[in-house]
Amino acid sequence: MTKSYEIAVVPGDGTGPEVVAEGIKVLNAVSAKCGFKLNYVDYKIGGEHYLKTGEILTDETIQSIQKHDAIFLGAIGHPDVKPGILEKGILLRLRFDLDQYINLRPVKLYEGVQTPLKDKGPADIDFVVVRENTEGLYTGAGGVLKKGTPDEVAVQESINTRKGVERCIRYAFEYCKKRNKGNKVTLCGKTNVLTFAFDLWERTFYEVAKSYPGIKTDYAHVDATCMWMVKNPEWFDVIVTDNMFGDIITDLGAMIQGGMGIAAGANINPEGISMFEPMGGSAPKYTGMGVINPIATISAAQIMLETLGEQRGGSMIEAAVMKILKSDIKDLAAGKMGYSTSEVGDLIVDHINKNN
Ligand code: IPM
Ligand code: MN
Repeated sequence: MTKSYEIAVVPGDGTGPEVVAEGIKVLNAVSAKCGFKLNYVDYKIGGEHYLKTGEILTDETIQSIQKHDAIFLGAIGHPDVKPGILEKGILLRLRFDLDQYINLRPVKLYEGVQTPLKDKGPADIDFVVVRENTEGLYTGAGGVLKKGTPDEVAVQESINTRKGVERCIRYAFEYCKKRNKGNKVTLCGKTNVLTFAFDLWERTFYEVAKSYPGIKTDYAHVDATCMWMVKNPEWFDVIVTDNMFGDIITDLGAMIQGGMGIAAGANINPEGISMFEPMGGSAPKYTGMGVINPIATISAAQIMLETLGEQRGGSMIEAAVMKILKSDIKDLAAGKMGYSTSEVGDLIVDHINKNN
């Protein structure tokens, strides 16, 4: 029997639907070659939907999404919606409710792509950030007192549980072992100041490391991590860190690998349903113009296939992306690619069809 996967698709806002359409085009080309099937169900969730209906994300929708094998997401964000509503109500809600405790963000510079780092090339920039995705400063713990008065107090707490920290660190070591490249995991923290939270992280890190004698361990404070990512990115193989630090260093990572047009990420529940997305936002000013770069979304589709166990399909996508970056697309910025959004999708599909 043909293997098939049920994919919940959330095109979302702005340029989200345009890039998701290219992702699906590529996924269909790959599945035809590999002999598996992908069935898609679209979910209308996002700022546009919220403004029209007042509905953010219902329990029924979450339950329905949960029946799928994976979620493929474009972008959520709308200029007319107050910051925080959609982020918390949709993106973070999905990550938390579905217990997607890993945020996996590869930072890989492909040949032909410009990096702002002087004298650094593809051999130097190839690492992965494993960001904890359900705890830390993101839980919403804390509160406010005397709001709007001169005596206002705002507390935002970082929650770190032994279980949450350990499963994230363990994932990083397992991923490092499978990746088998630098065989090194670096803990990125702030043990010199956050002496409660990162003491837990550090102890757990070295305890877990004992089960991985073949993997080297390293530690860097988050500020120093930023410095090394710019100065010596070749030192990194797998970086593991908490939610907030991971959020920050992966934007830096996206820039050194060529920008938001190419940076993909995955929200993973290794025991459940995972969600795959480009790191960039909804880019409202480019909506409907056909100029946005779909490569980040196409690479997110690659990670989706790899996570579903379709390694060969994932490799087909990466090979095609690498080829067109090397020979065809010189600038990754929206409107400067020399091709439209759908032409970029076509180039990748052509390469897949001709070479497999
Ligand atoms: C990301 C984004 C989100 C985050 C926002 C939109 C809530 O910046 O995926 O990195 O902070 O995690
Ligand atoms: Mn971010």
